[in-house]
Amino acid sequence: MEALLKLFGGTLNSITSKCMVLLVTLLIFRVFLFPDFDGIEWRNLVYHSPSTSSFEFGIREFRFLVVPQLVWGLNNQKIAFARACLTARMLNRTLLMPSFSASLFYKEVDLLQPISFDKVFQFEKFNALCSGFVRLGRYSDVLNRTRVLEMTKGSGRKWTLERDLSQLKEYSKGSYDDYEVIEILGKNPFLWHDHWPLKDYAKVFECLVLIDEFRNEAERVVSRIREVGNNESMEPQQDRSSFQPLPYVAVHMRIEIDWIIHCKKLEQRLNTNQICSSKKEIVERVRNIVIGLKKTPIVVYLAVADKLLNDSSILEDWREGILPYEKKKLGVEGIYNKYPYLIQSAIDYEVCLQADIFVGNSFSTFSSLIVLERTHKMIKTSVESECGTDVRWPSYAYNIQGESNGAMRWITNMSESSLQTISYGTDRIYDCKGHI
Ligand SMILES: *[C@@H]1O[C@H](CO)[C@@H](O)[C@H](O)[C@H]1NC(C)=O
Ligand SMILES: *[C@@H]1O[C@H](CO)[C@@H](O)[C@H](O)[C@H]1NC(C)=O
Ligand SMILES: *[C@@H]1O[C@H](CO)[C@@H](O)[C@H](O)[C@H]1NC(C)=O
Ligand SMILES: *[C@@H]1O[C@H](CO)[C@@H](O)[C@H](O)[C@H]1NC(C)=O
Ligand SMILES: *[C@@H]1O[C@H](CO)[C@@H](O)[C@H](O)[C@H]1NC(C)=O
Repeated sequence: MEALLKLFGGTLNSITSKCMVLLVTLLIFRVFLFPDFDGIEWRNLVYHSPSTSSFEFGIREFRFLVVPQLVWGLNNQKIAFARACLTARMLNRTLLMPSFSASLFYKEVDLLQPISFDKVFQFEKFNALCSGFVRLGRYSDVLNRTRVLEMTKGSGRKWTLERDLSQLKEYSKGSYDDYEVIEILGKNPFLWHDHWPLKDYAKVFECLVLIDEFRNEAERVVSRIREVGNNESMEPQQDRSSFQPLPYVAVHMRIEIDWIIHCKKLEQRLNTNQICSSKKEIVERVRNIVIGLKKTPIVVYLAVADKLLNDSSILEDWREGILPYEKKKLGVEGIYNKYPYLIQSAIDYEVCLQADIFVGNSFSTFSSLIVLERTHKMIKTSVESECGTDVRWPSYAYNIQGESNGAMRWITNMSESSLQTISYGTDRIYDCKGHI
């Protein structure tokens, strides 16, 4: 992006070159942020309201912030949303509910299908859970719509982190602050500079609860996974009362051609061979975790890109004790097909979030967000430290080799000072053993 801007440096004022930059940027992002197939019941299970005492003062209810529509993959939109919330918090303003994009387009802006926040996530619940920390408002809350202060985010090389920060500080003071509404113009919040620690993002994500309709759909998929597990279990189940649903593993398997092209380039650039795992390597590493945990038979749910759904080879070679399923074999395609991209992705995200074991790729934003939420939940609910041997909701990265040739244990380092590693991936994951 910066290089591109340099390339066009100086001529940026012409509309054509702006469009070019936009187009090329979008193309890069298309590859970079390819539809990561992206799921939480445990939110209710272990519901901790953030203690209000930790954010003593709260956010003003009659000062608002408006941000551009959120675009691209579910994960990019979630990050953009959290960044918009944290920006609003910095300005001590209520964020007017932004629009997500229901479909996945990078160029055809008219096909993005804006979908309001409250058609995807619970509005009241968000404000209840995030009370005192960040706040969402409705457009009908605005009293005077004629006085809107526009704030244009700068871009390019010269628009540094520091300049961005001082702009935010400036707009939170004096005459700027008198405006009831500030509208930020420019690029999608995913691309804004990041000024916040990872913990703040985790707090915002924790307040996002899908609306009941979608939560129920995710529940249906999860029950279906547990059902096939029980059915195929070798153990005779004489005593129905002691009947325990079998655990399941969710694997966010990225082997489709677009991803391979992208990750091969990334491997070259970063001079590593730990990004692109072949199907064989993924199967092997997941198998070795499962064998290590002595939990067979076990159902492995493969969260794969749509285009792999007709590729039956992903179900082969898992061998005894492991029962691989994807949407089609589970018979849940119908649940997904009713919905646009964003919702399909959100349902899959829930299914991965609730899995007893999650295995993903540490260079995928989708996987990284799931591991962040699982780690956050683990830390909040576990009596043991997150590095204990018997924690709930462990996660692994199949692109990095861990113990006994299995995938590497993967925990989000909650002390990170930005969202950098989540947004752009890393092979320096934290595995509790002191290595990264
Ligand atoms: C927002 O403004 C209110 C009222 O001025 C103040 O009490 C509160 O501390 C501010 N909140 C933040 C997060 O700065
Ligand atoms: C809204 O603000 C404008 C400009 O300051 C002012 O002229 C107008 O009277 C205001 N309207 C209301 C309903 O307060
Ligand atoms: C369980 O197994 C039986 C016999 O193999 C099969 O007919 C039935 O459809 C299975 N049910 C589920 C939920 O997979
Ligand atoms: C898979 O194959 C079926 C039948 O050939 C077809 O209807 C469906 O669209 C295909 N799905 C994908 C995602 O390609
Ligand atoms: C976690 O992140 C913090 C801040 O970046 C860093 O100082 C620390 O070394 C990291 N810990 C591990 C185990 O990576």
